[in-house]
Amino acid sequence: MTVPVLTFFNNKGGVGKTSLVYHLAWMFSVLGHRVVAADLDPQANLTSAFLPEEELEVLWDQPSSAGNRTIYQCVQPLTDVGDINDPEVRQITPNLFLIPGDLGLAGFEDSLSQEWPSAIAATSPRPFRLLTAFWQVLQRAARAQSANVILADVGPNLGAINRSALIGSDHVAIPLAADLFSLQGLRNLGPTLARWRKDWQDRLARAPPQLPFSLPAGTMRPAGYIVMQHGERLSRPVQAYKKWTDRIPGVYYSDILGAPGSEQPIDSDPACLAKLKHYRSLVPMALEARKPIFHLTAADGAIGSHLYAARDAGQDFTKLALKLLSVMGLPSAPEQRPDR
Ligand SMILES: Nc1ncnc2c1ncn2[C@@H]1O[C@H](COP(=O)(O)OP(=O)(O)O)[C@@H](O)[C@H]1O
Ligand SMILES: [Mg+2]
Repeated sequence: MTVPVLTFFNNKGGVGKTSLVYHLAWMFSVLGHRVVAADLDPQANLTSAFLPEEELEVLWDQPSSAGNRTIYQCVQPLTDVGDINDPEVRQITPNLFLIPGDLGLAGFEDSLSQEWPSAIAATSPRPFRLLTAFWQVLQRAARAQSANVILADVGPNLGAINRSALIGSDHVAIPLAADLFSLQGLRNLGPTLARWRKDWQDRLARAPPQLPFSLPAGTMRPAGYIVMQHGERLSRPVQAYKKWTDRIPGVYYSDILGAPGSEQPIDSDPACLAKLKHYRSLVPMALEARKPIFHLTAADGAIGSHLYAARDAGQDFTKLALKLLSVMGLPSAPEQRPDR
């Protein structure tokens, strides 16, 4: 049994990927799931959302004493002759766990680039070991914590690190802003996902027999898109926002699903998982308190209308989390397991 991996992906930055992974990892755990959040972005923004700077310093500078291992510390031995280091996750709550990111992860990109062509006619397990290293680490972490779902955050590009992250993803959710750049990004994303999926199938079909480890299916099933209602240009008129949101379903259906002509207006489009509000001053408040927006209290500065807004955010994220669970075929609340 493998644990499903949901990755938030868009090659455009600043569309809310990291914030979504952070808030949804929390929300899934609030709903009773056991969640592993994995920071596969070498910028490590998800990790800094979860952990204070002092802890990051220890984690990155003195790995052996930190009691948890970054994703790079897990996969790094593969760049030499070693094997994957077992993950030591950072426990955030009783059922939320973080595989911390690492700026050093960028150093893994070259190895992944090299092994991609090698895997097509591989006689040794090595290319497969490397290319699936993220997935192996995520699965080991999930197994060790009896987690039932894994959420992954990745950087905004179509490079070898992200290709490896994506071949280890069962589901892909696409955060978008309502602007020209996001729409263009979506047009690149579809063909890229399709190519990665096919290239991975070709490699799987020719993998050496009896590998001493299992391989991810590389499904990368599109889970839907999430439109951020904010944007860098907050002063834009409403019509501009509407103009771009109206076009999203068409591009999503033709370029991501390869089913042109079947799109719907965005408000009745089942692929539109949410139109996420701009949470304004709650965002810096939540960052400061190092908790999700929906857990902010008066003690954190969420007073009066802020408190109502925080509660509304709780409802928004509950709805979004339930939709995602349903798309992934997971129950809204997991059954109580008597063995825990
Ligand atoms: N719903 C939201 N409301 C207000 N600000 C947001 C919201 N989502 C994200 N942000 C802010 O927008 C910026 C980009 O978000 P981030 O999640 O880092 O995007 P990405 O990971 O796609 O680059 C961050 O400063 C973040 O705090
Ligand atoms: Mg990010």
